[in-house]
Amino acid sequence: MRENLLTAQGLVKRFEGRDVLKNVSLTLEKGETAAVIGASGAGKSTLLRCLCELERVDEGTIEIGGQTMTNGGRYGYAPEKELRRIRRRMGYVFQDFQLFPHFSVLRNVTEAQRCVLGRSRKEAEEKARALLDRMALSDKADTYPCFLSGGQRQRLAIARMLAMDPDILCFDEPTSALDPQLTKEVLQVIRSLAEEGRTMLIITHEMAFAREAAGRIFYMADGRILREGTPEDVFADPRVRAFAQTE
Ligand SMILES: Nc1ncnc2c1ncn2[C@@H]1O[C@H](COP(=O)(O)OP(=O)(O)O)[C@@H](O)[C@H]1O
Ligand SMILES: [Mg+2]
Repeated sequence: MRENLLTAQGLVKRFEGRDVLKNVSLTLEKGETAAVIGASGAGKSTLLRCLCELERVDEGTIEIGGQTMTNGGRYGYAPEKELRRIRRRMGYVFQDFQLFPHFSVLRNVTEAQRCVLGRSRKEAEEKARALLDRMALSDKADTYPCFLSGGQRQRLAIARMLAMDPDILCFDEPTSALDPQLTKEVLQVIRSLAEEGRTMLIITHEMAFAREAAGRIFYMADGRILREGTPEDVFADPRVRAFAQTE
């Protein structure tokens, strides 16, 4: 049986009276990699931020792992304690890394494990070292983020996210601050997570990557999902083709 890990329906988000998300619905199945594409300003980041509860929607429902984050927009959110548990199922990585600059690489990966999940130092460090190893950052554990390349910083951000054992991995243009070589490194890491069967939602402007790595694509324009389907179907749509040519 297919299981939806995330179900969002009828999402509306307004900023200063302007609708930025206009009745957006989407589901994510356990184990699938989905990509969100669309022009700048289409509402992609806002959608992702709403799903991670970094922003609250004005209308709509969001369910994650069978738990209700909101059942009616702004006034229907779960109580804070429950919300914290639901929110924790979502991991996210942004274009600009958002690392802790004054913490070592290792501590960037252990901090939230200890403060949020209450893991012991030993447990947190073991987990962190295994993830740094996977991200080819073992020898950087004691240095600081400012001494890392962009690709290394983004891999560190991914390690930090994975350390929290999220069920859904969200990426918002994870490579847009990187040059082509570093982009390749980071996309390779994301691809390996997809192959492992992690559930992922990736906003990207790397059309070739979306086409090849995602099982499903959402094409957004002007606050709506205009087209959704397999890469073949979505890229066959003339509107998507016209957009992809501009990328
Ligand atoms: N915090 C905010 N306050 C006001 N407007 C915002 C805010 N965040 C995003 N917007 C507006 O919402 C629209 C969608 O933005 P965004 O979700 O960042 O699009 P995308 O990620 O597709 O480029 C844009 O017009 C943007 O200016
Ligand atoms: Mg964006």
